Formats: sequence, C-alpha cells, structure tokens
Amino acid sequence: MHIIEAADYEDMSLKAWEVLQHKLPRIQVLGLATGGTPVGMYDHLIKAVQNKQADVSHLHTVNLDEYIGLSTCDPNSYYMFMKEKLFGPLGLPEDKVHLPHGDAENPQAEGKRYEDLIQSLGGVDLQVLGIGKNGHIGFNEPGSEMDGRTSVVQLASSTVEANARFFENEEEVPKTAITMGIGTILEAGEILLLASGKNKAHAVKCMIEGEVTSYCPASALQKHPKVTVVADREALSEMN
Ligand code: F6R
Repeated sequence: MHIIEAADYEDMSLKAWEVLQHKLPRIQVLGLATGGTPVGMYDHLIKAVQNKQADVSHLHTVNLDEYIGLSTCDPNSYYMFMKEKLFGPLGLPEDKVHLPHGDAENPQAEGKRYEDLIQSLGGVDLQVLGIGKNGHIGFNEPGSEMDGRTSVVQLASSTVEANARFFENEEEVPKTAITMGIGTILEAGEILLLASGKNKAHAVKCMIEGEVTSYCPASALQKHPKVTVVADREALSEMN
C-alpha cells in the first residue's frame, strides 16, 4: 500500500484529488463512494471540470452501495446524495452513472444484475473508498466474506449510528443495503482509499498493519497490488 499523509481533511481532499487527476485520462470506469469523506475531493473534481482542467465525458461511474428500500427519488438515497454532490454539478448523463437499485423487487437478483453491469462495462479501473470506524469498506461489515460479490447485507449497529447524521433520526436509517462485495472491490484495477479523523485511526491501523481478517474487512486491501491510502494525521495517529 502506498500511504500519503495529509495534515487535515482539506489537505487529504487536495492530495487525493491530485492522485485522481493524474490518472483520470486513463480511467473509463470510476468506482465511487458516498459518505462525508470523499466530498472534498469531489469538489476539486467539479472545479477542475468547470475550469476545463479535467474531462469526465468519457466516464462511466459505479457506486459501491445503496440502501434497500429507498428509490432514486428518495432524498436519503445514495443516488440523490451523488446527484447533489457530484453527478448534477458535473452534468453526468443518467445513463452513465450507476448505483444498485435500492427499490428492486428482488434485491438478491439486483446484486447479480449489478455485478453483470460492472463486467459489461469492462470492470472498475479505479475504485474510491472510504472506511468505516469498524473497518468496513462499502457496506462489508466485520465478518463479511473476504471474497464476496455484490449482495444484500445487514448494516452493523455502529454504521446505522454513524449514518444517522444524514437522516432525521436513527430509526429512519435503513438497516439493509446492497453493496459491492470485497471480492468485487478487489477486482478494481486500482484503489484510492481516503480517511480522515481520529475516529478512523483504529480502522486505518488494522487495515494497514493488522493481519488480514474479516474482523477488519479493509485489511483485505493488503492483498491488492495497487492501493493508495490518503489519510490525515488524525486518521494515521495509531500507526506504529
Ligand atoms: C459509502 C460506503 C462506506 C463509507 C464509510 C465511511 O458508499 O460504502 O463504506 O465510505 O462508511 O463513511 P464516511 O465517509 O461518512 O465517514
């Protein structure tokens, strides 16, 4: 793993953007994450496209995950989050942005459809990841299969709690999701993982220095040959 240390969230966002910017012309399929961590990097991407310093017209995007039960029109869906934070400002056409359908009648079959879609696009060239404070990547919680495919998962209670900040209250947070599996994520050509803040420090340490174990799903990334971690000082504060 290549580790890039940043001073704080702003610096992490800039350094992560510099990594992405350099690779962008060669990326056809960009894997994206929701959550608070990548938003600063997305803002840099938006600015660069608006200033004509970057081009995304060739891109397809595939997101990691979506809550089950929320349609694309639901303000709390990850689709809406991405539309507001990235797809809208970038002017990406609907047919080039992809997330699992949270309101699919058969969520298991939707997982399979999403896997097939990724294959039909030629696979993910670069996957952007955040990390949960319990070490999850996507919504692959501790105990997940380390070679799993896109499927229906149960969210850990700490994840429901952490994500309640985007909802009116914790009861509204869906308890299940469709997520790319760890096996799916590991098939990406490259991985760019971002982490910021003290509450990620333990997960970051386990990911980089711990043994590869499903107790820390992000530790699976040690098996990938091309991972760049951009993390701020607080997120790296438990490293040896
Ligand atoms: C988001 C995702 C999650 C988040 C993680 C960190 O699509 O799959 O793994 O990356 O929960 O979330 P934030 O960035 O909000 O701390």
